[in-house]
Amino acid sequence: MRLRSIELALPGAGEAARFLADVWGCADAGQRGARHYLRGSGDLPYLVRLTESRENAVESVTFTCARARLAGLARAVAAHGLKARPVTSDDPGGGEGILVELPEGEVLRFLAGSASVAPIAPHPRASRRVMPVKLTHVVLNAIDAEASARVVEEVLGFAVSDRTRAMVFLRCNRAHHSTAFARAGFASLNHIAFEMDDLDAVMRGIGHMRDHGFAPAWGPGRHGPGANVYAYYIAPFGAVIEYSTAVERVAADHRAGTPEDWNWPDKRIDQWGLSDKDTTALRAAEEKFRFHRNWAPAPLSRSARG
Ligand SMILES: [Fe+2]
Repeated sequence: MRLRSIELALPGAGEAARFLADVWGCADAGQRGARHYLRGSGDLPYLVRLTESRENAVESVTFTCARARLAGLARAVAAHGLKARPVTSDDPGGGEGILVELPEGEVLRFLAGSASVAPIAPHPRASRRVMPVKLTHVVLNAIDAEASARVVEEVLGFAVSDRTRAMVFLRCNRAHHSTAFARAGFASLNHIAFEMDDLDAVMRGIGHMRDHGFAPAWGPGRHGPGANVYAYYIAPFGAVIEYSTAVERVAADHRAGTPEDWNWPDKRIDQWGLSDKDTTALRAAEEKFRFHRNWAPAPLSRSARG
């Protein structure tokens, strides 16, 4: 299974799309009505969908998988009585699958048959680009992070990679985490992390953002769990976004770490200790994108259940 994309609704979607394309480094993947699509250099048709709307909302976080896996997911979702409905994607790449709602209204979309696209190769004489490859994780805030993580683990088949005092990290393939639930006290988008080619690309990204007047809200640094490099920003459209790279790959028999395994020395919250974290600004930004609660679940059809 792969994390593919996030779908957001917001006022000023066009302006937000221009920021992601012109400053952050994504490539424009087109517009369909009120929907703007941004892609990376990898083979996914898009990473972020921005839909013009009166209010901010997370519409879904989308994963792709094989049809057999989707059929198993649909059976498990139905057996556990989760709110769900079959969906056919009319986004670039298409695909069909299910929308599943987690305990706090978090909406995950699982698609099979979503088409990939040709990667964007670097220009031979301009290889020092700032362009995300794909999303590497989407972290969600939760009132009860353990409850949401339990559903994702026990029903959707993800595995817990680590627990810290702040988060539960979950993987759906060999990457240490594709999502995590933060123990925030409210349900919302925590942040969207974009995978960069390497450490150099993260640092070029920081420089490129600096050229446009943006300083990181946290970073650069290297996390404990997952050991990925990070630089967090608050985007002009309100969401927290991250340049990231080199997330750890874990073995199938990986033992999930506990909060006791992740104690930092005094005044240190990452491996490098280079930067301060603007906790107040990040927290305020994390409250900006909540979940819609206005979609109607429907019985999963025979075909959706496989
Ligand atoms: Fe992150």
